[in-house]
Amino acid sequence: MELHPRLVVTGGRGQLGRALGARVPDAVLLDIDELDLTDGEAVVGMLCDLRPETIIHGGAYTAVDAAESDPEGARAVNAGGTRAVARAAATLGARLVYISTDYVFGGTPGEPYPEDHPTGPLSVYGATKLEGEQATAEVEHHLIVRTSWVFGEGKNFIGAILGAARTRAELTVVDDQWGRPTYAADLAGGILELLDREATGTFHLQGGGEPATWADVAEAALAAAGSATRVARVTTAEYDSRQTGRTAPRPAFSVLDCSKAAGLGVALRPWREAVEEYVKVTA
Ligand SMILES: NC(=O)c1ccc[n+]([C@@H]2O[C@H](COP(=O)([O-])OP(=O)(O)OC[C@H]3O[C@@H](n4cnc5c(N)ncnc54)[C@H](OP(=O)(O)O)[C@@H]3O)[C@@H](O)[C@H]2O)c1
Repeated sequence: MELHPRLVVTGGRGQLGRALGARVPDAVLLDIDELDLTDGEAVVGMLCDLRPETIIHGGAYTAVDAAESDPEGARAVNAGGTRAVARAAATLGARLVYISTDYVFGGTPGEPYPEDHPTGPLSVYGATKLEGEQATAEVEHHLIVRTSWVFGEGKNFIGAILGAARTRAELTVVDDQWGRPTYAADLAGGILELLDREATGTFHLQGGGEPATWADVAEAALAAAGSATRVARVTTAEYDSRQTGRTAPRPAFSVLDCSKAAGLGVALRPWREAVEEYVKVTA
């Protein structure tokens, strides 16, 4: 892999940020302790001082449920923070890569979503990430990468399932939301390959393989870990009715058409293989 010595990554301690740091050792990784994305002047000032050629902007308010009762907090990071990063990128003439989400779509079941499918976010998180896309699109050299269901080093669904399985014989998991999980290490590699190919515009990058539900992903992870814990499959409505806090509406269908990236020779491996490796690495 070619080195990207003048790469700055926001969200540097997040799942994707860590994976990018592992692949590009001389990248500058920034997270909230170094740079609060809600402080627009500080963001522009620091990025302009660093003068990166490329910024991968992964920093985000990713607490999807919490965002429903904290829309201003989510908007300040995902929209306001991205506007500041975009301002810096435009000033520097830098390439800006923005990491976006399947949650910008409405989730009507059908064919996998191509990049130009109409958006229609259901949640505050999805709406604020879409505002971030719009700010990014103002930058001349921009790349928007939409991904989904990310797992890697940090907090994620698979980690939560394996943690819960240590003490429970059965776990209740949603079985009517369809998508594909994406390994942060693979996503990092795919983003860097798109950069190597000078890709611009919007691309979908999601784990390969057949579409699955969260319950399928949980079963795959438990099997890879050799756990005897069972999965009880429930609908989203059943699951939400058992939660005490507010849960965000999530798309029922999050399968992304990744053929545009594949056309450039960039495709992520089947998600089941990635889950097996992740479970092995984290065991
Ligand atoms: N995770 C997914 O399933 C998923 C799916 C689709 C798209 N994405 C997008 O992919 C990107 C990377 O996701 P990820 O899974 O790596 O997320 P992550 O692990 O939650 O990392 C995001 C990072 O941003 C930081 N951050 C939050 N507020 C900040 C602020 N005000 N200033 C600076 N940094 C701040 C977070 O710090 P704290 O941990 O301290 O809050 C965290 O380290 C995000 O843009 C996300 O929207 C993620």
